[in-house]
Amino acid sequence: MNTDRKATLEDLEKSFLDHYAVVAEKSNFFDSAFYEKFNVKRGLRNNDGSGVVVGLTEIGEVHGYTVEEFEKKPCEGRLRYRGYDVVDLVKGVQERGGLSGFEETIFLLLFNALPTQTELENFTKLLGNLRSLPPGFKEDVILRFPSPDIMNQLARSVLFNYSFDENPEDNSVKNVLRQSVELIARFPVMVAYAYQAKRHYHDEGSLVIHTPDPKLNTAENLLLMIRGPKNYSKLEAELLDLALVLHAEHGGGNNSTFAMRLITSAMTDTYSAIAGAIGSLKGIRHGGANIKVRYMIDNIKSNVPDYSDEKLLRDYMVKIVKKEVFDKRGLLYGIGHAVYTLSDPRAILLRERAEILAKDKGYEKEFQLYTNIEKLAPEVLHEVKGPGIKDLCANVDLYSGFVYEMLDIPQELFTPIFAISRVAGWCAHRLEEIVSGGKIIRPAYKSVIKPPVYTSIEKRVSGETQKKG
Ligand SMILES: CC(C)(COP(=O)(O)OP(=O)(O)OC[C@H]1O[C@@H](n2cnc3c(N)ncnc32)[C@H](O)[C@@H]1OP(=O)(O)O)[C@@H](O)C(=O)NCCC(=O)NCCS
Repeated sequence: MNTDRKATLEDLEKSFLDHYAVVAEKSNFFDSAFYEKFNVKRGLRNNDGSGVVVGLTEIGEVHGYTVEEFEKKPCEGRLRYRGYDVVDLVKGVQERGGLSGFEETIFLLLFNALPTQTELENFTKLLGNLRSLPPGFKEDVILRFPSPDIMNQLARSVLFNYSFDENPEDNSVKNVLRQSVELIARFPVMVAYAYQAKRHYHDEGSLVIHTPDPKLNTAENLLLMIRGPKNYSKLEAELLDLALVLHAEHGGGNNSTFAMRLITSAMTDTYSAIAGAIGSLKGIRHGGANIKVRYMIDNIKSNVPDYSDEKLLRDYMVKIVKKEVFDKRGLLYGIGHAVYTLSDPRAILLRERAEILAKDKGYEKEFQLYTNIEKLAPEVLHEVKGPGIKDLCANVDLYSGFVYEMLDIPQELFTPIFAISRVAGWCAHRLEEIVSGGKIIRPAYKSVIKPPVYTSIEKRVSGETQKKG
């Protein structure tokens, strides 16, 4: 950085930022009692923690509790795509040999029908043929400006697709469908190349670019572009395919899909809407949680050398929840969910297959650590937080990072892989919002400021803050 510019920034930091950061923190605080006083559904949640119903959809359904006599009762979790139980969809894929479950899922989400064998083959072929990026895209968009963060690079790459689209603003169903299928096909390539660029330019590794193979499906192509051609087993490709199936859709209320519906309702272009959803998914309260699980596991392993000892593990988990160790936020990552109570079906399905790969690759001891965390978490949370704590089960993120680790997929790709899958759900919701929404989503915020008396510039006193109403 130019030295004059650096000096200016340093001055700015001293004279301005240090002071105004404190002012901004103080002046943005208001009493959380206002939420109750004005009956505002904070985080769009009801008092029992359930989400406020803000829309209708036929795409995905997340079921985690029943309501009897106005009381929430826990139950086993269920996830449906277009009405089909995801357990049946996964079993069907496994029975026919375990591949292209993700392509079937995309087809189902976009077109509300399970594909026939010929339709699935044709659709997989179509995606394969659409993977190549526009001319110069790889060099000028990805390699020229590599980012240390793949999600950031992905959002930027999605926005760049606009410039290569001859009809970017047309929000007709036909055009949005074309854009959706193109983006779903290109996501794995944009992610893999962003990772390779990061590895080379930020981490001083070799620059390795593998061209996707149009004959392969999404999971196989991802493994090819990250690990090299023919450098993976069928079992590995199947497990990655399963992870993609399980992350593709989660109803309209999850943060990134709601962001997609919100942005789409303003009738903006496809690229802007998808870039917004990527920004949401990156957050550690959403898709970014899968990396936190990984960090937590590393932390447990370094501090509980005999982590197969349940008593030692349990004691350390208590310390995590008491905010004494790890990141001191008191959270057991990979545990708990806004909707699921007794079980998250995605975690169960992933755990079943993860166990098989763990045996195949010699990760049994680690697999045991994950299942012990799942088993011990409810009692640890009851002990520390008291009997009033809500029912908490393992969520999909507990096992997804473990699966990716066994597949030799680097940590920085955990959340981007979630995006490669969830873009299918986002696109389905965008189409549904365009066809059946038709009204800008525009909730209300109540102002809680007490209007001050206007003062002319010569009478103003520096540092005087507004009084709260
Ligand atoms: C997923 C999650 C955000 C759901 O949150 P939610 O439905 O809004 O529930 P809340 O955060 O209000 O949780 C209610 C209480 O349980 C506690 N709790 C929930 N999950 C917890 C966890 N994994 N570890 C420790 N405490 C947890 C909360 O701290 C809160 O306690 P408090 O009332 O003392 O503050 C939450 O369970 C969580 O943070 N989990 C860990 C992160 C994670 O795995 N995310 C991936 C989700 S797929």
